[in-house]
Amino acid sequence: MSNYVKNNLFSSEVIRDLVQDDRVHTSLYTDEALFQEELKRIFSQTWVWVAHESELPEAGSYKTITIGNQPVIVTRDRKKEIHVLLNRCRHRAATVCELHKGKTNSFVCPYHGWSYGLDGSLRAIPHPDSYGDCINKDELPLVRLRTEQYQGMVFATFNNDIEPLNDFLGPAKKWIDLFMKQGAGYPIKVLGEHRFRFPGNWKIQLENTTDAYHFPLVHKSFLSSVDNQTEEQFDFVEGAGFVEDLGNGHSVMVMMPQLVDLEEDLEREIPGRFEALAEALRSEGHEESSVRKIVRAVGGTGFNLNIFPNIACSMSFFRVLQPISVKETEIHHCAIVMDGGPDIANQYRVRLHEHFQGPLGFGTPDDSEAWERVQKGAYAGKDLWIMLNRGLPNEVKTPDGLKSDVSAETGMRAAYRQWKKLMSAE
Ligand code: FES
Ligand code: FE
Repeated sequence: MSNYVKNNLFSSEVIRDLVQDDRVHTSLYTDEALFQEELKRIFSQTWVWVAHESELPEAGSYKTITIGNQPVIVTRDRKKEIHVLLNRCRHRAATVCELHKGKTNSFVCPYHGWSYGLDGSLRAIPHPDSYGDCINKDELPLVRLRTEQYQGMVFATFNNDIEPLNDFLGPAKKWIDLFMKQGAGYPIKVLGEHRFRFPGNWKIQLENTTDAYHFPLVHKSFLSSVDNQTEEQFDFVEGAGFVEDLGNGHSVMVMMPQLVDLEEDLEREIPGRFEALAEALRSEGHEESSVRKIVRAVGGTGFNLNIFPNIACSMSFFRVLQPISVKETEIHHCAIVMDGGPDIANQYRVRLHEHFQGPLGFGTPDDSEAWERVQKGAYAGKDLWIMLNRGLPNEVKTPDGLKSDVSAETGMRAAYRQWKKLMSAE
């Protein structure tokens, strides 16, 4: 099989052999040619998350991101409509925007000055006389991608034949709805993000979002940095949680079943770490019911939702994946707050985010070390396999998909089934 991979012969049969029901071939982390195929067959074919609408608050707001390796700009035009445009000048290909986000009236290419509107239309060409009548501005807008939204989550695709976003998300929609409850009645808002890269394949991170098995070991330093009650809450590997395959590569890992619906059982005792917040909210005049709702929401949901191929709604933040090369991945951790919510509550959320996800946090740096080691190890024993059979004996069928215990590798198996389907499509 590795000879086929070396020779770039990616017939459907070869691809299907690389992903089996309980394992995937190590070349999925290391093979450059396979990576190029992924850009073509996955990132250029399926729905890819590009933004949350709160990142584009006003007419003229924009952000830049990539879909696979193709740079795009997400814009909001004067009619408040959202567009996803290829960040590529129609003259000689320069990117027309290099900032991560901002507000503008237009995008002016820095090379020769062609300028484009917020909807991508080509508005003006400097010194047009030399073109005579051999150019038609209407035929040269920034290329616009098909774009659809669910609950403010903006997705785009290069594939005009793909199913509607609603169908693609399927049973994952119910979990997105639950995730949005952490606005505590306020809309959620992406406050900001930090971007970092790790020297490893993008699927190593994709797997990690529904990997409860690593938590007690990799996150020892996090667990030793919190109070006993919180430590107990995060002791979920043998708990009542579960992982469920939601179809199309999506999956959910419920670590804390009592925190699936943030609006349920609000009368439960407020955890010690949030008592000061509850007091502060009460002293600001919030009614007890809203204090409890806000406090509950601040801690985030008790689950991680993985939407194939590039976005995780993880407890209280979005994690966005961008493949850079077969052995390098960029990650965006987006902090989420309550738009218009009490400052004190939003400050708490940001502190919690920094505590785990921040660059000096007690969580992400430890995860990154583990992912880096996976990539390094994957160069040893190239004919070996990545085992993904944990939880198989306990797997049961549900109306949405397959379900197993919380530390099962069910979510990873779901993602690789979708990988195989897209990569082997004729
Ligand atoms: Fe953009 Fe020439 S490349 S104006
Ligand atoms: Fe982790």
